[in-house]
Amino acid sequence: MRDNRAVNDAVHPSPESVPVTLSDTSGGAGGPRRHRTGSRLYPRVTSFRSRRGALTPNQQKSWDRTWPLIGREVADEPLDADAWFGRPAPLVIEIGCGTGTATAEMAQAEPHLNLIGIEVYQPGLAQLVQRIERDEIGNIRLLRGDAVDVLENMIAPGSLTGVRVFFPDPWPKARHHKRRLLQPATVALIADRLRPGGVLHVATDHADYAEHIAAVGAAEPLLVGLNETTGGVSAQHRESAPIGFERPVTKFESKAHRAGSAINEFIWGKIE
Ligand SMILES: C[S@@+](CC[C@H](N)C(=O)[O-])C[C@H]1O[C@@H](n2cnc3c(N)ncnc32)[C@H](O)[C@@H]1O
Repeated sequence: MRDNRAVNDAVHPSPESVPVTLSDTSGGAGGPRRHRTGSRLYPRVTSFRSRRGALTPNQQKSWDRTWPLIGREVADEPLDADAWFGRPAPLVIEIGCGTGTATAEMAQAEPHLNLIGIEVYQPGLAQLVQRIERDEIGNIRLLRGDAVDVLENMIAPGSLTGVRVFFPDPWPKARHHKRRLLQPATVALIADRLRPGGVLHVATDHADYAEHIAAVGAAEPLLVGLNETTGGVSAQHRESAPIGFERPVTKFESKAHRAGSAINEFIWGKIE
């Protein structure tokens, strides 16, 4: 079972939480690692595997120019998003933005939103940095690191207008299911960080993960279904929702289409 104590603690602080020793702080690539929440350290199984990848010379130049302006490493202190963006605006995060095709298009389609892309994979972020430079997109900021850390430590309860999770790693083998990002505790954490009426939008091309996500979302008491997959009627919510329900087709999704996989789209709203 996934060890979600750190996640649970962020939503429901509990005196029973068991601190672990200070040794073994790395845990190796994608393996369990010691995780700090406040003054305590916990082991956590991550939803990603560390992947190395070099930047091309052009990506590196773009990164050196622009990352200091729009990017930050994940930290364990609260984020002042309005100050970072230089304006107050509804805040949307995208977890695992990959190379950022959807991030960039959605940010351009929704200039009134502040959008933060969170990703652990630097070459993916570097592609997005290039696109942001090229298209002069002003409403995206980027965080490099584990999105669960971001939700736990950087984002205040009730402060997000939207959370997008497009094609989270499905971890298809049963022994890896504990690595899946969308577990009850993470979804509870997301729901806690959403403001009333805020939207969680998830898409997956993996049938088994889709079933799991449907069950986890349905069991989260703070969320109600806004589209047909989640038991709602999208036509009733599409116009009034604070973020768009449309989603551009990414390269990743095109591959899934070619492989004949069905895309399942889940849209929930936080109870008002
Ligand atoms: C299958 S890819 C999908 C990328 C993108 N959303 C798309 O649709 O093309 C999943 C991405 O999520 C990232 N990821 C997984 N767990 C993460 C986490 N906890 N925090 C940040 N990124 C994560 C991975 O590095 C990977 O790039």
